[in-house]
Amino acid sequence: MAFILGIESSCDETSAAIVRDGAEVISNVVLSQFATHKPYEGVVPELASREHLRNIVPVVRAALEKAGQTYESVDAIAVTRGPGLAGALLVGLSFAKAVCFAVDKPLIAVNHLEGHIHAVLLEQRAAGNHHLAFPVLALVVSGGHTHLYLAEQKDNGWTYSNIGHTRDDAAGEAFDKVAKLLGLGYPGGPVIDRLAKLGDPYAVKFVPAQLKHRDRRDHGKPPQENDDRPHFDFSYSGIKTAVLRYVELNNMRDAIEARRKELARIAQPTVEDYQRLCDQQTLDLVASFQRAVVEDLVSKTLASAESYNVATLLVTGGVAANSELRETFEREGAQAGLAVYFPSRPLSTDNAAMIAAAAYPKFLAHDFAPMDISAEAGLVLR
Ligand code: KG4
Ligand code: ZN
Repeated sequence: MAFILGIESSCDETSAAIVRDGAEVISNVVLSQFATHKPYEGVVPELASREHLRNIVPVVRAALEKAGQTYESVDAIAVTRGPGLAGALLVGLSFAKAVCFAVDKPLIAVNHLEGHIHAVLLEQRAAGNHHLAFPVLALVVSGGHTHLYLAEQKDNGWTYSNIGHTRDDAAGEAFDKVAKLLGLGYPGGPVIDRLAKLGDPYAVKFVPAQLKHRDRRDHGKPPQENDDRPHFDFSYSGIKTAVLRYVELNNMRDAIEARRKELARIAQPTVEDYQRLCDQQTLDLVASFQRAVVEDLVSKTLASAESYNVATLLVTGGVAANSELRETFEREGAQAGLAVYFPSRPLSTDNAAMIAAAAYPKFLAHDFAPMDISAEAGLVLR
């Protein structure tokens, strides 16, 4: 039995967890910095680092205590190395290194995106599903990423090849920017998810920016390994601009400013507060935006799954918490004969349990990180 302490600090959540054998979450403490960033309607990197510094020790202690473990009793310490905010990553990584040095434990560096993928694998293992049908495709859809990976399981761990990514804004970023634009606050995804249910998704017609090229050679990059394979890229900055134009054409600015001010006065707005402060036109716009993004994500992902003869699809990352996205993937995935798996909602958004789970194959393979390893804001998943 191996107990791994996972630590995650790549963005605006400080989290620590204890996971046994990559399959059982013993504790998972997630401290959100929502209140700190709320007045700015977005994550302020310097404030995020400061909050991580303030919270890392109590959060890790709480995870250990809840699991009945100590620094000495765990078998390894896993930490997010990247991608993420440089200063935020540094807090988790420095803390993990210090603990490893003090209690002589191995350090395991984990890619945050691999963590999101292992959030699904962890829960499947816990449910007794140990044998996924390959090829496996993973859509990681979060605030910073909209990436498609083919995932392979080899003797000493997992490897990934990217077959699609966002050209500009990530899907979660588009949810956040549209929510901010409409005076709905931060983070935008959960609010839009709830409000979209109250609007007409066919009211506003969006044509998500279509990509002209399917591979990346047009970007002037040197040809890479597997570069001639089909790529399925995403783009969500066009739809954000379309929402902005709709707002301007329909003179919605004053109403938005009034809503922004009202919501700023409420510490934890409820769905009723949002509903009271949104007219039907706004609800329709929100529902139509969500529908357009979900349709684009699902259709491109299923097209890539078909192209690569995929048997299993994993959908993960913060946006995987979205109810319409889940329902659409479940329905259309089933029609396409695909097994589709998501993490439970608490493990969809950032958490340390997924980091400890992703570390488990590395623990078995003795794939430990040197003590001079650095944080990598732009770490690539391979
Ligand atoms: O994975 P995550 O917690 O952090 C990153 O790695 O970025 O994802 C955060 C993103 C945010 O953009 C947030 O708005 C979005 O996930 N999100 C959602 C929902 N819950 C979180 N987007 C749509 N619907 C949701 N229910
Ligand atoms: Zn994430």
